[in-house]
Amino acid sequence: MKLGVIGCGKMATALVKGVIDQGVVNVENVMGVARTENSRQRFSDETGAAAVSDIADVLGASDVLLLCTKPQDIVATLAGCLFKPEEPKLLVSVAAGVTLATLESTTPDSVRVVRCMPNTPSLVGKGATAFSLGARCVEGDLETVEKLLGAVGISVEVPEKQMDAVTGLSGSGPAYIYLIIEALADGAVRQGLPRAEALRLAAQTVSGAAEMVIRTGMHPAVLKDMVTSPGGTTITGLSVLEEKNVRSALISAVSAATQRAVELGKA
Ligand SMILES: NC(=O)c1ccc[n+]([C@@H]2O[C@H](COP(=O)([O-])OP(=O)(O)OC[C@H]3O[C@@H](n4cnc5c(N)ncnc54)[C@H](OP(=O)(O)O)[C@@H]3O)[C@@H](O)[C@H]2O)c1
Repeated sequence: MKLGVIGCGKMATALVKGVIDQGVVNVENVMGVARTENSRQRFSDETGAAAVSDIADVLGASDVLLLCTKPQDIVATLAGCLFKPEEPKLLVSVAAGVTLATLESTTPDSVRVVRCMPNTPSLVGKGATAFSLGARCVEGDLETVEKLLGAVGISVEVPEKQMDAVTGLSGSGPAYIYLIIEALADGAVRQGLPRAEALRLAAQTVSGAAEMVIRTGMHPAVLKDMVTSPGGTTITGLSVLEEKNVRSALISAVSAATQRAVELGKA
């Protein structure tokens, strides 16, 4: 695979570091493009890959393109790409909210497009990304996309109409969990633990519990029952969470964020 990277910012750097580290692509087969020397230098320093200023060089050297500019720059960026019909490309966009219809209407038929919704933990190799294949995709594109995204976490294919729900869950979700970690630590500080230790224990508890769900494949309710002894401390704490409607609050948060993504998409 020859990988071209359009836009050399945070998400591009995280993805490229991941795919090189995982051996999905050799570093000499990656070329980035950005407008400023600052972006190019930072990208090259962090990934070891080349970065150039002329998008034509990247188009000529790649068969797979990662589109990593800001959502508001996507249409202008694609307008600056002179795609040649005899050089087919797979174009993987990570731009939040930019639809397959927009990507397909701003590129020729020789460009097969994929829309992704990554989240910020991709920056530390723990991303949760959903993706939808465009109508022009062919056999093999799914595997290519899974390999690329798998380098920075997990990926799941969804119909595009579910992307707003993905935004409400895994897109916005890291912020919900930061709030929960902070609140858990506050509880412990209130009970006398030093702040730094409370935060470390809270974050590791969230990470460990998540890992238990992922690695065992068990339903979270079963895992919860396994650590809840009759008349014990955990059921006492859980009762308070139920009284305060934490479960319902989280369901409503995902629904509200999904609705907001729908509104922003229409705007
Ligand atoms: N960061 C995240 O955690 C995250 C999460 C989910 C989705 N995303 C998506 O990832 C995309 C990138 O976000 P980011 O946070 O990585 O942004 P960023 O750090 O600002 O990176 C954007 C990059 O695009 C370059 N650029 C802008 N216009 C260009 C053009 N016409 N040609 C070539 N390069 C161009 C910029 O460099 P120059 O100014 O030097 O050209 C910059 O390197 C966004 O669409 C966002 O929705 C990001």
